[in-house]
Amino acid sequence: MANNAKLDLGDKTIDLPIIEGSEGEKALDISKLRGETGFITLDNGFVNTGSCQSAITFLNGEKGILRYRGYPIEQLAESSNFLEVSWLLFYGELPTAAELESFTKKVASFNTLPEGIEKIVDTFPKTAHPMGVLSSATVALSAYYENHLGPQPTDADKDELFAQLMAQLKLIVARFYRKSLGLAPIASDPSLSYSADFLNMMFENTDADVAKALDVLLILHADHEQNCSASTVRVVGSSHANVFTTISGGIDALWGQLHGGANQAVLEMLEQIKNEGGNASSALAKAKDKEDPFKLMGFGHRVYKNFDPRAKIIKVACDKVLEKLNVNDPLLEIAKGLEAEALQDDYFVARKLYPNVDFYSGIIYKALGIPTNMFTAMFVLGRLPGWLSQWKELREDPSAKICRPRQIYIGQTERNYKKIEDR
Ligand code: SDX
Repeated sequence: MANNAKLDLGDKTIDLPIIEGSEGEKALDISKLRGETGFITLDNGFVNTGSCQSAITFLNGEKGILRYRGYPIEQLAESSNFLEVSWLLFYGELPTAAELESFTKKVASFNTLPEGIEKIVDTFPKTAHPMGVLSSATVALSAYYENHLGPQPTDADKDELFAQLMAQLKLIVARFYRKSLGLAPIASDPSLSYSADFLNMMFENTDADVAKALDVLLILHADHEQNCSASTVRVVGSSHANVFTTISGGIDALWGQLHGGANQAVLEMLEQIKNEGGNASSALAKAKDKEDPFKLMGFGHRVYKNFDPRAKIIKVACDKVLEKLNVNDPLLEIAKGLEAEALQDDYFVARKLYPNVDFYSGIIYKALGIPTNMFTAMFVLGRLPGWLSQWKELREDPSAKICRPRQIYIGQTERNYKKIEDR
């Protein structure tokens, strides 16, 4: 293949360098386009636009491939654990036993929040959505770690912030959950694994099977290349804003129903279908009706046009976890029926719409006792190592620039001010 593509604009032809990644993905480098032609590109929702070159996660939407630093998600979900996967994403290699032990201890060492952050979490009304609490408390951490507000974090800063935020966001989520029920917080227990400690702080439950199920869910959510929230982290981080506000931006973007908020919306959709008699057909009809804003939540994906490998793993885990916990949730059968009917429906087949990571995850969260309005906060805990890894890669990229897209202006052309009496 030629190393350049030719762009013929009629009165001018320019060469656009072709970039090829390690998995054979190809891109046109348009970094000189405007300077040489005055043209920009326009790509609604960045559907066809790459924002960076990254070595963290590889997706192949047609083949349903997801790999973290080259390791298939299926193998990591089967054999690894969440802190080990977090290390892999952040540092690029699987940790040695000594590295993992040291990292685990460092995360566990952040077993309290600054008192002011505890007060902020406790000040929120019980009915507050956990995502608003989490976003606010995360950016508020910046008030307590002035040594981490500088524009050029050192490697030591990044190491410290990685372990610190992995722990502190877990503490914030668990603390608010207890507060929302009028219960006293439960202290973090450094002797427990990340997931077991979280469950203990939430429910005083350290069931090994439940902790393992949660750990797998967190692994499956850990990173997903340049999704909406990771891109938000990169945009905010590109201005050299501190990591607390950068991660808070990722939380905010994830909250949306089209993104991480979908896992909560799926459960609400399944509950509604159940309450209306369990008939999947009416939900499908609404989803296909262009006049109806309703979408089949948990279905469809910008990248996966075959199947979301995470959804396949979670679907299998659903049966296992509910059986182990002796939970019989009718929503699981409704979800399976919905999937089966959609995958036979021309509308969904033609648009290559398949269950995504959010379609079944809420059923497991529910079985683990996690309230529906906390599902997206669970997504945050899972995605945090991915966001931090994307932020680190951005800050260590010597070619990285502040994100500042251009636009095509479609507003009023020049006109003169009129005094109010002349309007
Ligand atoms: C996540 O990017 C990531 O990697 C995200 C994520 C991650 O790990 O970070 O994987 C996590 O966000 C998963 C997605 C969770 N969201 C949902 O489940 C919400 C429901 N899904 C849709 O909103 C939608 O599928 C998106 C947002 C996920 C993707 O939207 P796109 O890529 O912009 O696709 P589109 O809206 O242009 O859809 C193409 C067509 C349209 O129909 P036409 O105009 O061609 O006739 O498919 C239709 C859409 O109306 N469509 C749906 C649908 N999803 C797409 N119709 C009904 N129900 C749906 N769910």
